[in-house]
Amino acid sequence: MSLYDDLPRRVEVRAPATIANLGIGFDVLGMAFEQPFDTIYAERTETPGVLINDIRGDGGRLPRESAKNTAGIAAQAMLNALNIADQGVCLTIEKGLPLASGLGSSAASAAGGAVAVNALFGGRGDVGMVIAAAVEGEAVVSGRHVDNVAPAVIGGLVLVTGLEASQLFALPVPPTLWATICTPDVAVPTKEARAVLPREVSLATMVHQTGGLGLFIHALYRSDVALMGRAMMYDQVVEPAREHLIPGLGAVRVAAAERGALATVISGSGPTICSFTESKSAAERVMEGMFQVYYGMGIGFSAQVTRPAAAGTTWRVIA
Ligand code: HSE
Repeated sequence: MSLYDDLPRRVEVRAPATIANLGIGFDVLGMAFEQPFDTIYAERTETPGVLINDIRGDGGRLPRESAKNTAGIAAQAMLNALNIADQGVCLTIEKGLPLASGLGSSAASAAGGAVAVNALFGGRGDVGMVIAAAVEGEAVVSGRHVDNVAPAVIGGLVLVTGLEASQLFALPVPPTLWATICTPDVAVPTKEARAVLPREVSLATMVHQTGGLGLFIHALYRSDVALMGRAMMYDQVVEPAREHLIPGLGAVRVAAAERGALATVISGSGPTICSFTESKSAAERVMEGMFQVYYGMGIGFSAQVTRPAAAGTTWRVIA
């Protein structure tokens, strides 16, 4: 008999894409989407530590060495947090999220690694421990921040006021909300997208931004999606500074608005663009508009219709 006999041996974990910022909430807002998502198959092993068995769907771009891989680092951090030194995990990662696209790919892998370990060892870690472990993984790729990790772990729309679980607040998501996400084939490294931002803003701009974020939260609590969309477009600091990094963004904004989009924003640091709509049919029309823009420009891209996800990273027992 071992301490671990009653626990699952293998689990399948799903970790969702996330959008950070939502226009007006630079570094303080993040939302999970139902699709796309990463899948991690995790197995408990007698060998201590984390082994990455295989990664699929990344074109060979992600590190296979667990100490350099976001999922591997987060899984090891979770083992440490649970004080498990005599057992380990073996991970097989299926990337459903495009890499470096602004959809929280590293956060999804990190959330998946942390949740997988927690699931395999009886779920003893609370949400704060899981998020802290996932942040360790995320930090290697894009710095120590939680605006993707928090919604990837807990789902929904999260207001981030610090790194601790007590500083994260779930906001209500209007139930009619749909989204169209479109990723043009251009590279926008997060580091570069942050380097172009102004270091200082005027008091008048600060007042405007604060008003916009307040209005956004007010609109959420009223389930007023039109007002929510208007508030998302209040940003005068971050998106204007980044716009030149994403070809076609202006034309997509126009095409999406003509087809009923409430707001069109940069997803995280880009290059993914996200339009919010009030129905699936409007979201599909917006996708057609995005197709027309990028075909016209001769730029490759991928696009899909999705919805905000109430759940974050989920798991089920396979064996
Ligand atoms: N909030 C971050 C940014 C997300 O916009 O730079 C990217 O990691």
